[in-house]
Amino acid sequence: MNVLVIGNGGREHAILLALKKSKRVEKLYCMKGNAGTAQIAENVDIDYMNVEAVKKFAAEHSEIDYYVVAPDDPLAIGLVDELEAMGKRCFGPRKNAALIEASKAFSKSLMQKYNIPTAEAHTFDSYDKALEYVRKKGAPIVLKADGLALGKGVLVCEDLKQAEEGLKEIMLDKSFGMAGNVIVIEECMRGLKYNPGEEVSVLAFTDGKTIVPMITACDHKRANDKDKGLNTGGMGTFSPCPFWSKELEKEVYEDIMVPTMNAMNAEGRTFKGCLYFGLMRTDKGMKVVEYNSRFGDPETQVVLPMLKTDLMDIFEAVTDEKLADIKIEWEDGACVCVVLASGGYPLGYTKGKEITIGDVGDCQIVHAGTAVKDGKLVTNGGRVLGVVAKGKDIESARKKAYKAVKNINFENMHYRTDIGVKYRQG
Ligand code: AMP
Ligand code: GLY
Repeated sequence: MNVLVIGNGGREHAILLALKKSKRVEKLYCMKGNAGTAQIAENVDIDYMNVEAVKKFAAEHSEIDYYVVAPDDPLAIGLVDELEAMGKRCFGPRKNAALIEASKAFSKSLMQKYNIPTAEAHTFDSYDKALEYVRKKGAPIVLKADGLALGKGVLVCEDLKQAEEGLKEIMLDKSFGMAGNVIVIEECMRGLKYNPGEEVSVLAFTDGKTIVPMITACDHKRANDKDKGLNTGGMGTFSPCPFWSKELEKEVYEDIMVPTMNAMNAEGRTFKGCLYFGLMRTDKGMKVVEYNSRFGDPETQVVLPMLKTDLMDIFEAVTDEKLADIKIEWEDGACVCVVLASGGYPLGYTKGKEITIGDVGDCQIVHAGTAVKDGKLVTNGGRVLGVVAKGKDIESARKKAYKAVKNINFENMHYRTDIGVKYRQG
């Protein structure tokens, strides 16, 4: 089979690396890709948000048998629907199901309607009413812009002043653009051990009939060590989650995963693809923080390397609604991904810095924001590389990853030194 993956980042490189292991995959393509994807796939220089351009490419390339739409934006605008209408086979939810990520107001109302555990919340399209509610509830309180905002549209406000400023930023100043026309205001969840609670990302394959959780992962969202600094797309991940257990898995499967799949079916929005559950362990049990309609980035970088089953078999089983027929198996042990970012990220940073990669042992270097310029590997984004290491446990994997990091360099390289340390204290 010839398979095209849509997207440019570390997640897409990780998906391609997993597909490369498939016995059934002959040739890989990536639209648009980066310097890493170019090593294993043919990069296609087309803007995937330009639906007409993608359709034209698909029409001219009948040799491509399967499309994987990985990022949230093309899913939200219905790229899967468009490709399917042309008779193409795809992995990824249709537009009406991708709404579970594209609108936080929708996902919140879904959880409320079907009793899926989550923080109590109200949705507003009026600034005045929202302000009145925030003042009534007081802090801490969480503000969420309704639409897609590059993972930045959530403000956890510790005091009322912060909440009032945040509300103005989202709804009046439109810092997140149209995403802030509607706001979800929710209770700040309390953790069982820490505040806020411990978080875990659980990705799941689903064909709308069956839902199969993958191994768990934890993301470090803040830019700096000890969870200081601004929120980012993710500075590193590790798998599995240290507080995960068979009991939690059962609770999440029965109370959250299956009810979510059924709820989407009942709404006429059958979800087929990878459904991402951002969960928090709270003093009142496991609750949903957010849904994503896709693989997480950089969660995918630590989850897929542990997959023993052929990923292409799983993708096709989802497309054909035969997920119940295959057994999905995982390696034992742990995996850690340390993200190397451009200094300044998530704010301003410069691109085009030459990258040198020395001895990285058996670590996998996953490319995110990279390009080749004048024959040299250069930085081309905020998150540049992910250094992925496997080990018998998280400690040995993180040691291996950080040893490799020492042999990689570019000007103003920034990374966290505590990936995988989260929750170790308790
Ligand atoms: P999200 O983009 O929805 O994942 O939110 C970003 C981060 O904000 C989450 O990873 C949590 O750490 C935090 N957060 C979101 N909602 C809540 C909530 N209701 N209570 C406490 N923390 C939250
Ligand atoms: N790592 C969080 C996300 O993919 O949204």
